[in-house]
Amino acid sequence: MEHKPSNINILAIESSCDDTAAAVIVNDHIRSNIVSSQAGHHQFGGVVPELASRNHQQNMVPVVHAALQEAQLNATDLSAIAFTQGPGLMGSLLVGYSFAKSIALAMNIPLIAVNHLQAHVFAHFIEKPYPKFPFLCLLVSGGHTQLIVVQENFSMQVIGHSIDDAAGEAFDKTAKLLGLGYPGGPVLDRLAKKGNPDAFVFSKARVEGYDYSFSGLKTSILYFLRSEVEKNPDFIAQHLNDLCASVQKNIVSYLMEKLTKAANDLGIRHIGIAGGVSANSLLREVLQKEGMNNNWETYIPAFEYCTDNAAMIARAAQHLYHEKIFATEESVPFAKYKIDS
Ligand code: KG4
Ligand code: ZN
Repeated sequence: MEHKPSNINILAIESSCDDTAAAVIVNDHIRSNIVSSQAGHHQFGGVVPELASRNHQQNMVPVVHAALQEAQLNATDLSAIAFTQGPGLMGSLLVGYSFAKSIALAMNIPLIAVNHLQAHVFAHFIEKPYPKFPFLCLLVSGGHTQLIVVQENFSMQVIGHSIDDAAGEAFDKTAKLLGLGYPGGPVLDRLAKKGNPDAFVFSKARVEGYDYSFSGLKTSILYFLRSEVEKNPDFIAQHLNDLCASVQKNIVSYLMEKLTKAANDLGIRHIGIAGGVSANSLLREVLQKEGMNNNWETYIPAFEYCTDNAAMIARAAQHLYHEKIFATEESVPFAKYKIDS
């Protein structure tokens, strides 16, 4: 008699940018979540695509091995395998795709293609309590800033987005101007805790509706720093914490203004944040405060599910598995891939 495992065991692979990650979900429970962050990019001040794909190539087998081992499963126990289809760096995506496809073929199990942006939203459905619907999610990462309305069937509609830089880029580019290295978001967050958020005031771009614009902030900070450093070469060092706190306040309050407006206009009261920037301590704090003021239910993923990880890919894959949505010949990676693709 053929042995049919009663558990649905899915291995998920995430390789869209510079982190090689693998996770195993057993039914609706994450059993392992391994991330190997690539350190080699720091010296270049940003992610080098060629280097990233080479590193994925080296890290993939050990990371997948660790994920299976921690989940106490063998490859033969898998019900399906999932990979990140996009958006991301093409060379990096191809490593995860090729690896996942070969396992699917070798084990004769279904292959599941996961949209990375949707997966960031699915990070909210890993640990209970899950958000109720309709759910308004602010997705803020290194490459994207989007306001998304999520319906009960997990259909996702983008109602606002950044017309230029993402919120994560605003953090990273400012941090770079302040000499904080890459990626600067987490460092800026740490230093901001010791600074005065009202020390310096930077303007916010006026954009229609629920859209954002962040590229002007970087330019105004650049000009401001240039003129101050001309007068006092030690200006940045002497005011570093205050600069970080002021920039962080500017970005977070701008993000919150549009989120609050959308929630009020649409009458949605289940509100969450997702993506790397949702690890920001001020954003997490302000969302909770606004939630209390507005009688919202607020949802913030655990830190390990905010920045890029494979657990969120696994959770999205579990949903697709139950919907019987499997990869086809057309499910190749896409560098530019919309959330509602
Ligand atoms: O979601 P993510 O890990 O990767 C992408 O899909 O882009 O997001 C990475 C972004 C980077 O811009 C990083 O600086 C930012 O998230 N980030 C933060 C914090 N932690 C990560 N930004 C501000 N404060 C943080 N604590
Ligand atoms: Zn991401």
